[in-house]
Amino acid sequence: MTSMLDRIKKNAAALGKTVVLCEGEDKRVVEAAAQISKEGIAKVVLVGNVDECKKVAPDVDLSGVTVVDPLTSEKTAVYANILYEARKAKGMTPELALEAAKDRTMFGALMLKAGDVDGYVSGACHSTANTLRPGLQVIKTAPGTDIVSSCFVMIAPESGNKYCKDGAFVFADCALNICPTSEQLAEIAVSSAATAKSIAGIEPKVAMLSFSTKGSGNDAKFADTVSKVRESVRIAHEIAPDLELDGEFQFDAALVPAVAAIKAPDSRTAGNANVFVFPDINAGNIGYKIAERLGGFVAVGPICQGFAKPLNDLSRGCSVEDIVLTVAVTALQSGALNNR
Ligand SMILES: CC(C)(COP(=O)(O)OP(=O)(O)OC[C@H]1O[C@@H](n2cnc3c(N)ncnc32)[C@H](O)[C@@H]1OP(=O)(O)O)[C@@H](O)C(=O)NCCC(=O)NCCS
Repeated sequence: MTSMLDRIKKNAAALGKTVVLCEGEDKRVVEAAAQISKEGIAKVVLVGNVDECKKVAPDVDLSGVTVVDPLTSEKTAVYANILYEARKAKGMTPELALEAAKDRTMFGALMLKAGDVDGYVSGACHSTANTLRPGLQVIKTAPGTDIVSSCFVMIAPESGNKYCKDGAFVFADCALNICPTSEQLAEIAVSSAATAKSIAGIEPKVAMLSFSTKGSGNDAKFADTVSKVRESVRIAHEIAPDLELDGEFQFDAALVPAVAAIKAPDSRTAGNANVFVFPDINAGNIGYKIAERLGGFVAVGPICQGFAKPLNDLSRGCSVEDIVLTVAVTALQSGALNNR
C-alpha cells in the first residue's frame, strides 16, 4: 500500500508541475502547501492573503510557496476577461466577471484556464458542487469527452487481498454523476480505464456492474435498469474497441473466478476485472465505502476525470496527507493529458 502511494508522489515529483491550492484560509491547506513544496512533489500557488495564511498556520514556512490574493493581484482583471469571454453566451457581463474572478475557487480555475498553473485542487472547506462548478464552467471537458466524472483508486490493504493482483482497483463513479445514462456510463468506463493506467499503473479490465449477470435479472419489470448497463457495454466497445471491457456483471461475477465460471463462462473479463463501473452514484458511493470500511482498502480520490485540464475536489474531512496526495495525482493527470 505504502509503495503505491510513494510511487504516485515520486512520479509526480519527476514532472515538476505547478498546482494551485485555492483555500489559503484553511490551516491544512497551508500546511500541505509547505510540505508539497519542501518534498518537491510540485510547485504550489496558494490562493489567499499572506497575513491570513500566516495567521491560520503560524509555524509553517511558506518560503517555497507563491501566495496570490485575488483582491490585490494584477492578474484578476486578466482572468475576469477570460471568464467573460468563456461565459458571455451564458449571460456573463464584464462587471459580473470581475466580481466572480475575485472568488478564490474561480480565481484558481481561471489560473488553470490561462495556463499559469498545470492543475487545480480545492474543496477542503467548500462543497463538491462549489469546488467543481468553476471548472465545469470554464475548463470544460477534454476533446472526445462529454462528461466529467470521478473515480477512486482503491489500494489493497498491506495484508493483501486475494482478488487484487495489481495492488489496486478502480471504482467509478462514486461521487459525481448521480444517475448516468448508457452513453455517460460508457464514457465513465473509458475515462476510468485511462485513470487506472496513468495513476494506479494497472492494465485495465473493466466490468460494467449491475444486480444482473449476462441477463440473469432480465425480468421485464427491471428492463430499464439492466438494459441501461447492457447498452453502455455496446457503446463502450464502439468508442474504445481495444479496451478490455464487459458486462453486465454482478460484483462477484466480475471479481471471483469461480463465480465467473458459473455465471459468465464465455467472458474473459468476468472473474478478472480490476476497474468496476457502478450503475449510479447510490451503488458506487455505498460500494467504495464498504470496501474501505470492511475490506480495509485505502480510497484515493475522488479523482476527477474528463476535464480538459486537471481539477480535483478534496473531502471536507481531508487530512494534510490527503491534500498532498491529491496534488500528486493532479500533477500526474497533467502529465497524462499532455501525452495524449
Ligand atoms: C457536479 C455537480 C455539482 C454539477 O452540478 P450542476 O448543478 O449540474 O451544475 P450546473 O448546472 O451549475 O452546471 C454547470 C455547468 O457544468 C456542466 N456540467 C454539469 N455536470 C457536468 C458533468 N458531469 N460533466 C460535464 N459537464 C457538466 C453543465 O452542463 C453546466 O455547463 P454550462 O453552464 O456551460 O451550461 C453535480 O453533479 C453534483 O452536485 N454532483 C454530486 C456531487 C456530490 O454531492 N458528491 C458528494 C458525494 S461524495
